Amino acid sequence: MSTKPRQILVTSALPYANGPIHLGHMLEYIQTDIWVRFQRLRGNDCIFVCADDAHGTPIMLKARELGITPEELVARTGEEHRHDFDDFHIGVDNYHTTHSPENRELATLIYKRLKAAGYIAVRSIRQFYDEQAKMFLPDRFIKGSCPRCGTPDQYGDACENCGSTYSPADLKNPVSVISGTRPVEKESEHYFFKLGDFTDFLKGWITTSKLHPAVHAKLEEWFKVGLQDWDISRDAPYFGFEIPDAPGKYFYVWLDAPIGYMASFKNLCDDPKKNPGGKLRFEDYWGKDSQKELYHFIGKDITYFHTLFWPAMLSGAGFRTPTAVYAHGFLTVNGQKMSKSRGTFIKARTYLDHLNPEYLRYYFAAKLGAGVEDIDLNMDDFIQRVNSDLVGKYINIASRSAGFIHKYFGGKIGKTDGGWTHGGIVKVPADSLNMSLLDDMASVEAFYEQRHFSLAISKIMKMADAVNAYWDEQKPWEKAKDNQLGILHDVCSITLEAFRLLTICLKPVLPKVAQEAEAFLNIGELTWSSKDDHLQSGHSINAYTHLIVRVDSKDVEAMSNASKENLLKSPTQAIANMEPIFPEISYDDFAKLDLRIARIVKAEHIEGTDKLLRLTLDLGGETRNVFAGIKSAYAPEQLEGKLTVMVANLAPRKMKFGVSEGMVLAAGPGGKDLWLLEPHQGAQPGMRVK
Ligand code: 2FM
Ligand code: ZN
Repeated sequence: MSTKPRQILVTSALPYANGPIHLGHMLEYIQTDIWVRFQRLRGNDCIFVCADDAHGTPIMLKARELGITPEELVARTGEEHRHDFDDFHIGVDNYHTTHSPENRELATLIYKRLKAAGYIAVRSIRQFYDEQAKMFLPDRFIKGSCPRCGTPDQYGDACENCGSTYSPADLKNPVSVISGTRPVEKESEHYFFKLGDFTDFLKGWITTSKLHPAVHAKLEEWFKVGLQDWDISRDAPYFGFEIPDAPGKYFYVWLDAPIGYMASFKNLCDDPKKNPGGKLRFEDYWGKDSQKELYHFIGKDITYFHTLFWPAMLSGAGFRTPTAVYAHGFLTVNGQKMSKSRGTFIKARTYLDHLNPEYLRYYFAAKLGAGVEDIDLNMDDFIQRVNSDLVGKYINIASRSAGFIHKYFGGKIGKTDGGWTHGGIVKVPADSLNMSLLDDMASVEAFYEQRHFSLAISKIMKMADAVNAYWDEQKPWEKAKDNQLGILHDVCSITLEAFRLLTICLKPVLPKVAQEAEAFLNIGELTWSSKDDHLQSGHSINAYTHLIVRVDSKDVEAMSNASKENLLKSPTQAIANMEPIFPEISYDDFAKLDLRIARIVKAEHIEGTDKLLRLTLDLGGETRNVFAGIKSAYAPEQLEGKLTVMVANLAPRKMKFGVSEGMVLAAGPGGKDLWLLEPHQGAQPGMRVK
């Protein structure tokens, strides 16, 4: 490339560390990754960072529920997310976490600078408080009846029935989702970021940053309404960073989440293995006067955070602001919102268990534009596009021509330069083909740059159509039969050269296929400028092995079924798919059961079993030894000291490991999803349950 490489930093939105990556997330990571790979292929320096979004109430509560620390949860989830990224070939340069020293340092620095500049206000607000759980409740943790339409079981911020938005105080009959008790209103001091002070700055920023017209229009609306102060603090207990000089107050997760972009980049810069010689410098990319390009890829639902709070915070704290924020639409599956019961809520891992990641990369590329429209993953269309376009049009070019090259020409390429490098017009023996692949590549390049991936893919498929039409016209199989080996050699070589060009075009989307195609063609790493080379006469290619095979609809079906199965194991689904109720019994039948409160005084592993734990139960004086099949869901230390319910009059059962003197009660489908019954506080060991 003659011009100087651009220096670009790219991010994808940070996934929360309390749940698995699903295909809705993957839409964004694949979109970002294609763009990043394209930039690298063009010879630009393009760094891609991401991280887990580790803070907030849901993560704190999920960890509690699992009986582990939030740090453990975040570490565990981070591992899973990293694997999903790797297996989908998402080429991040660094995957970090917002619960990191770098992020603490940067969040603190930014806050202190904002405070020193007068952009932080402190005032008291009234908020719902759960007296039993001893915590303030985020809006999503309060439910009640909609103040407008009366629909029960609505969250504290919006009604799913009538769509109205309100504050939790407006809800009728509010209940805490955590304890089920009625919350009380309580006063607390909160810290606010004075977003309104940045109105003029932001109005200027949106004219210089490359925003999509739809996003621009949304911002204009928000400006009209006026920019309100933003509540950036939360009270303990909270999993996050404590605000300096404000004990018991924590930064709201959304304050330090985008700072996580900077933290991940800083972590990369500071790692001598990832940044040998310290060439990448934090200041160069984030300093106020940085000339590097900075792009955030996000979902349209988090536009407000990225186009208002984030640039304002950066500017107020003396850092550079983003060059652009690229928002995409949501993913629907088979035309509808992803649904657990329909098996369309597909986890990245479930997809990977059944299907090749490059199918999905190709499909998303074929559908993605630069705007905020939703993208539909239609399973029939998915199968059709991958099989007839990707495999039928592109891959087949290689398999067919390689066969002849090996059979008749010892695996050696013939003439390929008949016009390829001169204006992009190919004139071949029968003069029957006029292809302008190189000109087409210029359009493909522009489409990639502008994130019009669907246009790039349709152009590439048109190029493949032209190559296939040439092949069909030339009828190489007849040339072979008629022993016209000279022409046969030309046709197959030209076709393989065309395959090489198509591979360059598809490389951002199909990194693994491209790598295998390079090995098959026996050439070095293709870059965008490799289009100006060509396969040399006499060059040996390797034997063709399948670069990618057709999608089998059975695998798609299996993936949908597995998504439903996953669900069966989730708590909500256990209710939706409730086992049929047993035949009726009399009260006398019930009264035969002697259920007692028991304290687990000891819980131990047993050698030779991965299912059972040995529990020593105190029944209020009497001690029982019980073997319980709950090892998949509990570690012994989580159980010791807890109360539970046991069947106390069950006949003792002799087992391999000893005699089991009763049974503890648990619910759930099995595996990790097993929950031991625990009475409310106050119950005492030995009490009868009736
Ligand atoms: O909406 C979300 O899933 C957030 N975790 C995204 C954060 S993006 C960035 F700001 F960190
Ligand atoms: Zn309503």
